[in-house]
Amino acid sequence: MWKQILTIAALTASVQSSSLAKFALEKVLNDASPIFGDYAKVTNHTAEWMKSYADDTLLVHMNIPGTHDSATWNYTQATQDSLLGITDLNQVTVPTPLSFRCQELSLVDMLNMGIRAFDLRYAFDPTNTTIIFYHSQALLSETATLNDILFGFYQWLDDHPSETLFLSLQDEGSTALYASNDAAVQLALYSALTTPAARAYFVQTKDELGTLGQARGKITLLRRFDLDQLPASYTDNLPGLHFSPSLWTDNSPDIALVYNTAKNLTAYIEDYYEPLTPYGSTAAENIQWKYNATVANIERAVSAAHRDSLFWTWASSENTDTVPYVWPVTQALGNGTNYTPKGGVNDLLVPFLEQQKGKRVGIVMFDFFDQPGNLIETFLSL
Ligand SMILES: *[C@@H]1O[C@H](CO)[C@@H](O)[C@H](O)[C@H]1NC(C)=O
Ligand SMILES: *[C@@H]1O[C@H](CO)[C@@H](O)[C@H](O)[C@H]1NC(C)=O
Ligand SMILES: *[C@@H]1O[C@H](CO)[C@@H](O)[C@H](O)[C@H]1NC(C)=O
Ligand SMILES: *[C@@H]1O[C@H](CO)[C@@H](O)[C@H](O)[C@H]1NC(C)=O
Ligand SMILES: *[C@@H]1O[C@H](CO)[C@@H](O)[C@H](O)[C@H]1NC(C)=O
Ligand SMILES: *[C@@H]1O[C@H](CO)[C@@H](O)[C@H](O)[C@H]1NC(C)=O
Repeated sequence: MWKQILTIAALTASVQSSSLAKFALEKVLNDASPIFGDYAKVTNHTAEWMKSYADDTLLVHMNIPGTHDSATWNYTQATQDSLLGITDLNQVTVPTPLSFRCQELSLVDMLNMGIRAFDLRYAFDPTNTTIIFYHSQALLSETATLNDILFGFYQWLDDHPSETLFLSLQDEGSTALYASNDAAVQLALYSALTTPAARAYFVQTKDELGTLGQARGKITLLRRFDLDQLPASYTDNLPGLHFSPSLWTDNSPDIALVYNTAKNLTAYIEDYYEPLTPYGSTAAENIQWKYNATVANIERAVSAAHRDSLFWTWASSENTDTVPYVWPVTQALGNGTNYTPKGGVNDLLVPFLEQQKGKRVGIVMFDFFDQPGNLIETFLSL
């Protein structure tokens, strides 16, 4: 009799705790939603496209579609206005949302449509308390923290264990008058990336990429930050690949970045985000320059040389050094008029990518990846 009562009590407790875990997860996903989007479980081909690749596939041989400034998808005038009370604390003025917005679909939509590499730019909130997301001065949400977003990724990976993700985290300077990458920021970042959950969901190997099988259900950290204000043991404890900002040449079409000196492992990167066109250049000219730089790096990825090296190409760009400014959206998609007769970089890339079937193009980061509609479809069928 007592035994039975105890069993019922234990059962009730376990039901309660499992619904508590469910409620807690719901709360976290809700907090994450301004950046992560509204969580929805989808199990179709694009949400699980890695199922058709063998476990022994080397990650450096895979074609990984990614998004540049992934968290900017809801950065409209309304969003900017709603955050002015907070950005005022940062003592910055925020230019038009057009200069910051690089996407139009949420992270969870990206995941379900096949995107596997994400670019998030973090800094402290104006009270120096939590790590949140920005694109330069543009604060993207005051509530969605790094930890909240990570739980969104963890939940998605639980729902799609065949998939693997790459997460690039970069310290975003210029967010605030007093923005700083000081020891407190670095410690908060380190803490988020070494929680028990992070240990379970991040690939724990360091300075090299393995196979898809080893990485399924997990995230590879692409570390575009240094922990130079903390003792070296912190750096030693973090997994993933390190792309030190000091080695990442700004606005370069052709970076060779050694991320593992012992094994001489090099990443070949194109990140020519602001084409160095003459002043007064048109959008069409800027689009052509950027397209050329993008294609040149993809052609290096495709060629027989450096077959086992990592290639990371950024198709994203803008030009605010010319007049009129060319916003990210125009660079990616054109503006639908004779001003950009061939469309944007994304439009030009579709026929180019169609020619690369069966080839390795590597990781490619897009702006407005969902347009034109056949871009991601073409990429996933390489
Ligand atoms: C899978 O679902 C996503 C999200 O609903 C959708 O955007 C995508 O087009 C779907 N893919 C396929 C192959 O149906
Ligand atoms: C996107 O921004 C608008 C305007 O700020 C806001 O009302 C809406 O809730 C946001 N969407 C999400 C999913 O957070
Ligand atoms: C946040 O930290 C920066 C750099 O350490 C400092 O200049 C600033 O005053 C701090 N802001 C607040 C609100 O404490
Ligand atoms: C490292 O690799 C690069 C590219 O494969 C090569 O050019 C270079 O000579 C290598 N350096 C060393 C020290 O092996
Ligand atoms: C782009 O590349 C094409 C083909 O190689 C070349 O004809 C053209 O001059 C290049 N344009 C620019 C702006 O670099
Ligand atoms: C396209 O851009 C040109 C140059 O800035 C501008 O004159 C034109 O009004 C734009 N058209 C649209 C539909 O945005």
